[in-house]
Amino acid sequence: MGLVKIQKIMSNELAKRTFISRPPEPPHEFLLNDPTDSIFVGITRRFNVPFTWTFNTLTNPHISVVGITGSGKSFFVKTFLIRASYVWKTNAIIVDWAGEYKGWVKQSGGTIVSLGKGDYINLMDLAGMKPLDRSKQIMNSLDILTDIVNFPEQRRLTSEAIEQAYLNAGFILSSAPPPKSESPTLKDVAKLLEEKMQEGTYAYPAELENAIYRLRQFSREGEDYFARKSTIDLDVLISSGLVDIDLSGLPDERFRALAALFLLQTLKEKMRAEGWSSTKGLRAVIVLDEAWKVASDERSDAITIIREGRKYQFGLIVASQNPTDIHEAIFSNVGTNIILKIKFQKFLDYIQGSLNFSQFIRSEITKFGVGQAAIDMAFQTSSQFPSTFVINRIVGEVPLDVYTITLADLLTENEIKDQALTKEYSFEKPFLMSKFVDNNINTDTIDVILAQLDARNRLVDLREFVRILIASKLSKDSVVAFLRSSGISDSLISRAFGLGDMGG
Ligand SMILES: Nc1ncnc2c1ncn2[C@@H]1O[C@H](COP(=O)(O)OP(=O)(O)OP(=O)(O)O)[C@@H](O)[C@H]1O
Ligand SMILES: [Mg+2]
Repeated sequence: MGLVKIQKIMSNELAKRTFISRPPEPPHEFLLNDPTDSIFVGITRRFNVPFTWTFNTLTNPHISVVGITGSGKSFFVKTFLIRASYVWKTNAIIVDWAGEYKGWVKQSGGTIVSLGKGDYINLMDLAGMKPLDRSKQIMNSLDILTDIVNFPEQRRLTSEAIEQAYLNAGFILSSAPPPKSESPTLKDVAKLLEEKMQEGTYAYPAELENAIYRLRQFSREGEDYFARKSTIDLDVLISSGLVDIDLSGLPDERFRALAALFLLQTLKEKMRAEGWSSTKGLRAVIVLDEAWKVASDERSDAITIIREGRKYQFGLIVASQNPTDIHEAIFSNVGTNIILKIKFQKFLDYIQGSLNFSQFIRSEITKFGVGQAAIDMAFQTSSQFPSTFVINRIVGEVPLDVYTITLADLLTENEIKDQALTKEYSFEKPFLMSKFVDNNINTDTIDVILAQLDARNRLVDLREFVRILIASKLSKDSVVAFLRSSGISDSLISRAFGLGDMGG
């Protein structure tokens, strides 16, 4: 008993001392790496060391990023992707939950895939996989996103019907599909179950009915985002530089999560098939920003990928405002945790519980300004130093904010084909502001307009733009003058007004 007491006193003393003295940083050789094989992030606060990130010394290339809204998560992600593409020619796929990256990706010359708005994924698309494996993945997604695990009979019926649909389409369940073969869709699966219902011989019709109902939620006309022929080819996208998969056009979180799970499953399989190569650098980075259940459910591939560490040639970046949306296994297994400003004690408790940083770091995190961060890394060699340190500011690579106005939805088919016709206008923020000022629009109104544009991720069609200007109490004459001065033709301006809601 006596001994326990003494130890307790001593560890209390130690805790107090850690609190008053600033914790040291990892030694230079862990922070400063070969610039041709690492990414500059920022200057450390205590010893002013330029911190360059590489995963050579880390347990894996995966990264978590947390912080309140506006703390700089997306800014870090963009900076990281740009530098990775310079240094390693890394490709990137952003699973863009809220459509917040698409303006930037467009501006950077990347590719945008708008799911639910012209682009579709067939969940049953094999993309080179065996039908049996894809069936398991689809069931895994349904387990995460629906209550099907509570209904084993419905689960069995669904899984059997998925396999049957592949068989009917001529596939062999345990063999890789022939090239260019066309996969069935969830509509075919629902149809099989409906036929079974009509036969009327199945002993549990209520179970069958519920299984059909669940599938119909994903294959009903108008909501069949995942039950049509795929318009995207992930083989191409994974090597296409910067790609934004915009999920904001899908109707709700469940649809978005289903798309995100599918993308992770498929990319994981592709990377697994290729195996790890010894060539330096990362072949690709997959970004999940605010991905709700995809990052919080133990069964999700996000967690499998991170647990499997360095097995794949890609890094996963998981970002969220809400650390409790990120499963504990992610914080404790990623090679790098980036912690921007956090205010809520509940969130701090959660993340400190996983990472064990000091009270000093904890109190710093609550005081951070935009772009300031605590960084925690898991080194391959066991380290004798605290692994969490603070950098002054993430030093950015992100260009000025750009606002884009598209004309596409006002154009006729012939105009769309006309190569010479401008189909969108982009303005850097200071230029757009000065144009507003030139048109005698006062600064309060400019702020309102910019906030409206920001809320739409700085990408609007002309009709919407006109609607925003009118709603901000600009007269019709000044809107027309503004558009003319931007080089938009009278014909397009009148179309924008004709179709736009003039608010009476
Ligand atoms: N390190 C930085 N240096 C300079 N500006 C920054 C930095 N980090 C963020 N900013 C600016 O701060 C604003 C908010 O940053 P950002 O969009 O990255 O926040 P966020 O954490 O992603 O917020 P949200 O959770 O709302 O998506 C942006 O205008 C961005 O350009
Ligand atoms: Mg963001």
